[in-house]
Amino acid sequence: MSLKPFKLLRYSYHLTYPKLTPIITSGTFDKPNAMAASWHTHISFDPPLYCVSISPDRYTFKLIREYGDYAVNFLPFELSDKIWLTGNFSGAELDKFKEFGLRKIKAAKINAPIIAQSLTALECKVINEVETGDHVLFIGEIVYAWVRPDLVVSSRGMLDPNKAKHAYYMGEGKFITLNPESIKEF
Ligand SMILES: Cc1cc2nc3c(=O)[nH]c(=O)nc-3n(C[C@H](O)[C@H](O)[C@H](O)COP(=O)(O)O)c2cc1C
Repeated sequence: MSLKPFKLLRYSYHLTYPKLTPIITSGTFDKPNAMAASWHTHISFDPPLYCVSISPDRYTFKLIREYGDYAVNFLPFELSDKIWLTGNFSGAELDKFKEFGLRKIKAAKINAPIIAQSLTALECKVINEVETGDHVLFIGEIVYAWVRPDLVVSSRGMLDPNKAKHAYYMGEGKFITLNPESIKEF
């Protein structure tokens, strides 16, 4: 079938999904917050930088501005419901860690806690922010990283696709994970 125009440019993000979708934690260990974020990526090796695009409407936005840091927590596919819930309620109204069964551990170098159920997690300190339309891109330096050691299969930290079942968001409430049988190696 040939390509056809897609007119709903506001929804063009769907054309780029599924997207690996972590939970961004912010605030402090005693007063933490957590929200789903599909718009995020590494943007530099050295220094190692990771950015996340957050709407100023989010409580998370206020907390990142206040404390200057955030963690990016990659949860397993089987916990997609927790990712979904953190993306549908605001920490301004409830304690999402408590309500949604997220366990927290103290971060090594930032105020925001790490989610204990994560496969991997990155601690980031904000070094810059850029207004991007209706979101703000927080650019963070990765100051510490966490990984479940049973997932790692190479000396540089590549993960075992049979064990590291990441959660990818499709849109409209649907999550999917990768099928390791469809792997290609070059
Ligand atoms: C799967 C998913 C992905 C999301 N991605 C983003 C994102 O990248 N940036 C953003 O600002 N909001 C995103 N959201 C919306 C926030 O997670 C949502 O508004 C959340 O309730 C904000 O929580 P807070 O007010 O506690 O910060 C996403 C929501 C879902 C369900």
